[in-house]
Amino acid sequence: MNASGQPASFQIDKELEIPSIPLVLIKIIQALDQDTSTAKQLEELIMHDPALSARILRLANSAFYSFRSRVKTISHAITLLGINLVTSLAIGINIFDTFIKGAKSEAALINQLWTHSCAVGVLARKVWMLKSSSQKETEFAFLCGLLHDFGKVVFFKTYPGKYGSIFASEKTESDKTISGLEEENYGVDHAVVGEMLAKQWGFPRELAGLIRKHHDPSEVGTPMVAAVMLADHLAKRFEIGYDGDHGLNSPVEIEEVLSKLSISEEQREQLEEFASQECVNIKQFYRIS
Ligand SMILES: [Fe+2]
Ligand SMILES: [Fe+2]
Repeated sequence: MNASGQPASFQIDKELEIPSIPLVLIKIIQALDQDTSTAKQLEELIMHDPALSARILRLANSAFYSFRSRVKTISHAITLLGINLVTSLAIGINIFDTFIKGAKSEAALINQLWTHSCAVGVLARKVWMLKSSSQKETEFAFLCGLLHDFGKVVFFKTYPGKYGSIFASEKTESDKTISGLEEENYGVDHAVVGEMLAKQWGFPRELAGLIRKHHDPSEVGTPMVAAVMLADHLAKRFEIGYDGDHGLNSPVEIEEVLSKLSISEEQREQLEEFASQECVNIKQFYRIS
């Protein structure tokens, strides 16, 4: 291990198959990082990609957002959903699309991971709304949840057959977690790989750090990490998608997360109620293909 905790011999570009970052994503991320994105710029970027445009419109029209009138244009979708949420969705859809291309037999598993990721995004946003009224922060929580496991798509791309079977294998309580199996087979886990790729692709530093820390119990004091941990736990508990792990956090771990976030028993029940109700909507409307 080197000073940053990564195996000294591991080099992401040599050992993992990394698709080059799509141009549209570079521009969206640059705008996100510089905080200069305007609705008009975002609309132009999305409209250059017909497949992305179609997906954003489908999401905007989904029952999940339940708007009264039909959303027909990207600019209308941005007005209704907000610039940050549309930006996050555009980033997430683009990344998963990039990795899913050519992955025939693993496509169903990657779709399960996408559903899980969307659920963690939606739930992290909901958790953050209990803590803060800042729209910008709650939408950043959505992006963090959406991309927390994105290191896993790199493993799918590089080792499709083998990683597919590791991901899909039944795991009992006493078995290793998916992170443990990744370390055993590849020397690194998806949190490390996700952070490395996030840095390589120029993601905001806070997002790259969150991806690295999302399973680390010593980081539970960082509120955004705790929010994503709780959202991850709820997505698993209500079986919204699948992220390669059946195991839930222990009750003690969850109590600690709740206490760090100052979430009351009543709020916890509200979150569980929300997760159980949104389960069907998320599965149905966040389809990637
Ligand atoms: Fe994870
Ligand atoms: Fe996860």
